[in-house]
Amino acid sequence: MRALRLHELGGPASLRVERVAVPSPAPDEVLVRIRAAAFNRRDVFITQGRYPGIVLPATLGSDGAGEIAALGAQVADRSVGDSVVIDPMLGWGDDPAVWDAGASSILGMPHPGTFAEFVAVPAANVYPRPASLTIEQAAAIPLAGLTAYRALVTRGGLRAGETVLIPGVGGGVQTFALIFAKALGARAIVTSSDDAKLERARVLGADVALNYRTDPTWHKTLRAEAPIDLVVDSSGGDTLAKALDVVRPGGRVAIYGATRPEASIKLFPLFWKHVTIVGTSMGSPHDFAAMLALFDDGLRPAIDAIVTLDDAPAAAARLLASAQFGKIVVRID
Ligand SMILES: NC(=O)c1ccc[n+]([C@@H]2O[C@H](COP(=O)([O-])OP(=O)(O)OC[C@H]3O[C@@H](n4cnc5c(N)ncnc54)[C@H](OP(=O)(O)O)[C@@H]3O)[C@@H](O)[C@H]2O)c1
Repeated sequence: MRALRLHELGGPASLRVERVAVPSPAPDEVLVRIRAAAFNRRDVFITQGRYPGIVLPATLGSDGAGEIAALGAQVADRSVGDSVVIDPMLGWGDDPAVWDAGASSILGMPHPGTFAEFVAVPAANVYPRPASLTIEQAAAIPLAGLTAYRALVTRGGLRAGETVLIPGVGGGVQTFALIFAKALGARAIVTSSDDAKLERARVLGADVALNYRTDPTWHKTLRAEAPIDLVVDSSGGDTLAKALDVVRPGGRVAIYGATRPEASIKLFPLFWKHVTIVGTSMGSPHDFAAMLALFDDGLRPAIDAIVTLDDAPAAAARLLASAQFGKIVVRID
């Protein structure tokens, strides 16, 4: 089968399409014929060596949708031909509050990923594709949708009528945060480096949209938009300090990533305002099912582009440059 492989570090240009053997499903796994996959920042970080525990060579890709091609010997509750979307969180464990840090992993390195014609995954990780979604739309959802849902709802506790701040809305996870926030009846304030992305965010329902590049003191501008109940962020750097400046007394900040790994904050606003900062990563099987159910009511992911496997290295470079708005989907024909 054809697969997108990484043999050595060196950024997106190191990705190669090559032929590898079709995997055999273990007794508790299903073999999925992938029709569409999608990029996450994680894939790009792995090509750069900016990820823990890199094992090479690797087939990358955490997001995928397709149909079941074969069943492992113990799988009785799935059928060949089922149209499915894959939950990339492997081995979350029994505690919905936190993953099993010793046993869990994410599909797509070291477990061979979805940028391939076939992938073998635990049967428990495949869910019926929501009927209203195309295969490309379904493939765009898993990792980013799961992370956004848990950050916003399970850990962030967002309620209808509240206001959420979503910095860097062009990112894959943050576009889902915006879409989910609006679906849940919240007011959404977004920032981005790019006015065209801000315009797209307004079309998706953003109530306030500011350019953090041309307005570096956007947090001061936002004081007029108080109260801000929740901030969800992965951009790191100075965003956390700015979030603490604008979040309301008693508000919450949910952090799921560190695109800029270092952050320095003043402690005074944290304790004086009784702010809760929570960390969050991926999500439990319950989070995944609840997140996917939101798409039964006509929601759509924001898709930046749909490319072929041969164009995947260039697509990864587009992600590295943060040129995208939403998800880059890869068709695997
Ligand atoms: N812990 C987890 O489970 C988990 C899951 C998913 C992602 N993550 C992490 O979360 C981050 C985002 O992932 P992704 O896949 O959504 O990435 P992505 O699609 O590449 O999005 C990154 C976005 O970050 C924004 N950004 C960059 N610099 C910024 C700044 N100075 N201020 C505000 N925003 C800034 C940009 O938004 P604009 O284009 O709008 O400027 C950019 O589009 C990554 O660090 C990733 O590793 C963690």
